[in-house]
Amino acid sequence: MAALPYIVGNWKMNGTRAMLNEARAIDRSAARFPKVQVGIAPPATLLYRVRDAVEVIGVGGQDCHARDNGAFTGDVSAVMLKDAGADFTIVGHSERREYNRETDEHVKAKAEAALSAGLAVILCVGETEAQRDAGDAEAVVAAQLQGSCPGTDGAADKLSVAYEPVWAIGTGRVPSVADVAAMHKSIRAQLVAIYGSAGADVRILYGGSVKADNASELLAIPDVGGALVGGASLTAESFLAIVGAAASLGAD
Ligand code: 13P
Repeated sequence: MAALPYIVGNWKMNGTRAMLNEARAIDRSAARFPKVQVGIAPPATLLYRVRDAVEVIGVGGQDCHARDNGAFTGDVSAVMLKDAGADFTIVGHSERREYNRETDEHVKAKAEAALSAGLAVILCVGETEAQRDAGDAEAVVAAQLQGSCPGTDGAADKLSVAYEPVWAIGTGRVPSVADVAAMHKSIRAQLVAIYGSAGADVRILYGGSVKADNASELLAIPDVGGALVGGASLTAESFLAIVGAAASLGAD
């Protein structure tokens, strides 16, 4: 059975308590789209409150530390995310790879910590513009997957991969349909190489400037199992338009 499309909002470092109204509005409307799985990843400070404010959508972290606890000032562990009510966490986002110098090895350890804490994982990969221009995009992403996919038993069952080309994040630029299709096909082949037949069912999300007006086209591409949405997830109105686009594709 095909998995439901998965639409996840990554709020990044945005959101104070005033945003709880958006979370509530997203949750109420998501209840009208039972054929779409919806999640939001608020900043860690809001996780508890968002958990309390919503009923049907998933709630997640944006990152976690690889250790359960200890002297790591400013960090949040997967165990803590779980305790705060998270269902999943994002790991390996390109902003963390860039600004916090996270390597594939770090990302893999974080993903494994998240799985052992009982969280589902959204693992992000994606090439820079220079890497794409050099013709290396698929090789770069394949290497990221080889280096950062969790090795935990049964990992594939709780894993989604988000393909987010770095040059498409927050820029309003998106790759062509053909390029997204080729990359998702290549990611699928890598996942099957890593996980065997379980890799065939891992959802592969697209992320990078997904908006209401391009969502239908992107979500219709083979092997695009959903979207990881940044800017357009910050208001219920723009996020729900994307959820609605996913629902109408499923209705065909
Ligand atoms: P934008 O949708 O703002 O381009 O961000 C994408 C992203 O990084 C989601 O994780």
